[in-house]
Amino acid sequence: MKKYIIAIDGPGASGKSTTAKILAKKMAYIYIDTGAMYRACALNTLTENINLKDNEKLAKMLEKIKVEIEYSQNGNQLFLNDINVTKRVREADITKLASEIATIGIVRTKMVDLQRKIGENGGVIMDGRDIGTVVFPNADFKFFMVADVKTRAMRRWKEAKKKGEILNLDEVEKELIWRDNNDSKREISPLKRATDAIPIDNSNLTIEEQVQFILQKIKQKKDKK
Ligand code: CDP
Repeated sequence: MKKYIIAIDGPGASGKSTTAKILAKKMAYIYIDTGAMYRACALNTLTENINLKDNEKLAKMLEKIKVEIEYSQNGNQLFLNDINVTKRVREADITKLASEIATIGIVRTKMVDLQRKIGENGGVIMDGRDIGTVVFPNADFKFFMVADVKTRAMRRWKEAKKKGEILNLDEVEKELIWRDNNDSKREISPLKRATDAIPIDNSNLTIEEQVQFILQKIKQKKDKK
């Protein structure tokens, strides 16, 4: 049976990764969180003390950087130069830096290459900002997830609380607005819906409902063939 490439794009905390993880389990596909790759790059500039404006150093860093994902249905693990950084890259300083580094052309070229290599044989669900527009413009399925910013901020707040961290809800909302803006206004591969991506506003949907919606779309296409 044909193994599809499924692209899910959308802004921060719009439910892409939660949905993608469940879908991957149900379909026995691998899940690739491309945001994690930009986060790993961001962390590397911190550990190697590289200024984002220093193109030469950045290029050298990209030549030797090792970003790897170990796939597991119980949660992928992210490795940066052989060190497990899965948890570290979710911290607030990296979230902001990832959005900054993701505006830089040489960084995107390297990450997009990597993403294409991982996904080219199909059987993947990839989430990000530019999967349906740039990485896999011919993906078999494209979805664009959105939710209003208050809902998204509350989701992030609850996620942190589960990990024992109490955040300021206004700050979380401000950070999301800043990132929405930075990600959609950048020159290279800005966050935007591919014209052929199916939009999903999940502000008032449960996780199960949005997963079912996607599965239904996939089934409809299969039935047509
Ligand atoms: O999980 P969350 O939605 O908060 O963010 P993420 O998906 O981990 O992405 C972190 C940052 O990486 C985003 O704010 C984008 O600037 C960037 N990114 C990107 O430019 N292109 C992608 N395909 C994925 C992420």
